[in-house]
Amino acid sequence: MKVYLDNSATTAVDTDVINEMLPLFSLFYGNASSFHSYGRQAKKILEDSRQKTASFIKADADEIIFTGCGTEADNIALFGALDAIGSKGRIITTKIEHHAVLHSFKRLENLGYEAVYLNADKNGVISLDELKNSITDNTLLVSIMHANNEMGAIEPIKEAAQIISEINKTRKEKIVFHMDAVQTAGKIPIDVKDLGIDLLAMSAHKFNGPKGIGALYVKSGTKISPVMFGGHHENNLRPGTENVPYIAGLAKALEVNINNIDENYKSAALLKDKLQSGILKSIPDISINGDSKTNLPYILNAGFNYIEGEALLLKLDMAGIAVSTGSACASGSSEPSHVLSAMGIDPVSAQGAIRFSFNHCNTEKEIDYVLEVLPKIVEELRKMSPLKKV
Ligand SMILES: Cc1ncc(COP(=O)(O)O)c(C=O)c1O
Repeated sequence: MKVYLDNSATTAVDTDVINEMLPLFSLFYGNASSFHSYGRQAKKILEDSRQKTASFIKADADEIIFTGCGTEADNIALFGALDAIGSKGRIITTKIEHHAVLHSFKRLENLGYEAVYLNADKNGVISLDELKNSITDNTLLVSIMHANNEMGAIEPIKEAAQIISEINKTRKEKIVFHMDAVQTAGKIPIDVKDLGIDLLAMSAHKFNGPKGIGALYVKSGTKISPVMFGGHHENNLRPGTENVPYIAGLAKALEVNINNIDENYKSAALLKDKLQSGILKSIPDISINGDSKTNLPYILNAGFNYIEGEALLLKLDMAGIAVSTGSACASGSSEPSHVLSAMGIDPVSAQGAIRFSFNHCNTEKEIDYVLEVLPKIVEELRKMSPLKKV
């Protein structure tokens, strides 16, 4: 049996999405900037997709910029907003961000910005008091992810936005608030106006759309400069001929997922519960990383003590089960994940962390299979493990 439980890394493209995209490669292939009928047709598909994408996050169409991926949307948001401000100062993010944001912050530090990285508690949630206390007169931008990609903690975005908005009332230069929604778009409802954010990044391949296409929401009135230069595409913010088939695919994938958002959420919650209670019952010495009751139902992160996550991943792969580890492999040596470290998870448990991530395509039968195979593999690995309990 083949079981794909790595849906936070990427998802299968939905059949309706493929059908939406296919004619755009071979029949309606015009350049959306061309004036002839082919171009006008492509332009209409582009603008319909923009309208659709906007409506699913309660934005206006002219607030959506299509980008090459989630990473690019994050980069345009951060570098573009800071460039438009034009002065150096403090920028704030969290220790548990995806590298798309964290490595951008490292670069910004090199460029002379003062970066502050907020802590996360044992469940991976930031402290609003720490955020409030970190904001100084020279703070320019705050970037907080909507939900974490390793263990699914949902961050208090609306409350953070309220703190920022209160402070902004007294300031001439407003603090810009960016949210990385790559793990939540299409999975939980998003209302950008209600959340109170200025910028939002999403990526189609995380919600059953194609890889290599993302979108950036830029709240009307937010100052932002381009970070790449070329034509006047995408409101002068993202030059380059628009990838209309993929853009239409992104909009369709969002539509398909949002039309089924409650069912998908419930089905993921059921599978996660089943897997979690199954492994807790059948495997000793494991811990669940994060608060699985309050975090996204799409992710379960479990720490298997005394074994290496990589070894477990490989054994599961041999049994046809695809998952991911909680650690980043750097030059052959595995280091505990920066997210789990920030949550204070002890390194022994973090080394054996595995992320199972779900999609509505998964079934209970698949979870039964994982529960049949996993305990045996864990036992086998523990027998050989130099890390095992003595
Ligand atoms: C939270 C988060 N942000 C950004 C990204 C990057 O998205 P993309 O793969 O589209 O560049 C990912 C991908 O895993 C992610 O999980």
